[in-house]
Amino acid sequence: MNHPASFSSSRDASLSRRSFLKGLGVTAATAAANGAEALAADLAQADRERPFGPGETAVGFVLDGVRVQARVEPRETLLEVLRTRFGHTGAKEGCDRGTCGACTVLVGGTPVYACMMLAVAADGATIETIEGQAIGGRLTPVQQAFVEKDGLQCGFCTPGVVLSVTALLRKDPRPNEEAVRGACAGHVCRCGSHPRIVAAALEASGVKTASQMEVVSGGRHHV
Ligand code: FES
Ligand code: FES
Repeated sequence: MNHPASFSSSRDASLSRRSFLKGLGVTAATAAANGAEALAADLAQADRERPFGPGETAVGFVLDGVRVQARVEPRETLLEVLRTRFGHTGAKEGCDRGTCGACTVLVGGTPVYACMMLAVAADGATIETIEGQAIGGRLTPVQQAFVEKDGLQCGFCTPGVVLSVTALLRKDPRPNEEAVRGACAGHVCRCGSHPRIVAAALEASGVKTASQMEVVSGGRHHV
């Protein structure tokens, strides 16, 4: 099917740019020799870009410390590939449109909605999922805090939230409550566990705030 120009992929754009520049008989070397640094850089980038598709293509990344490879279609999301190729089903498909956070994984240490990232875009990346957190059955401090603070009910949102909190604490080991709420802002918990999620994150950081005082009310803990 032909796509309108406005839907052309970056790959198409890069090929067009390269074709255009090559068509002028310009190479990165000659551009550099002539002092045209910007053009030389553009040509070098065009040469580095690897076209994907339209069929399956091989991608490789480090998944929870293990180098893995898979053949994927360019349309497949990282979430689909993690779940169907590697059995990492901790990342959940909630909305499949970048609004709930249930699919969150860490890419290069940064929380990413895996439903919004194509698997081919993860080529060469370092990816962490909830499956790689507990080593030998030993929970991480963040996971342990979620257990102790009862930071979940059904658990559907929990893998993603744990990873976002983990990423926060690596950058800021002593975040305040506002920072925790900011880090968790991209996650929707249908069970309404948000207050206890914040309490768990602060517990994991070792920070105690007044808002962590627990009040037991009707069998539910409120923070
Ligand atoms: S499933 Fe990815 S944000 Fe909801
Ligand atoms: S614990 Fe159920 S969605 Fe968060």
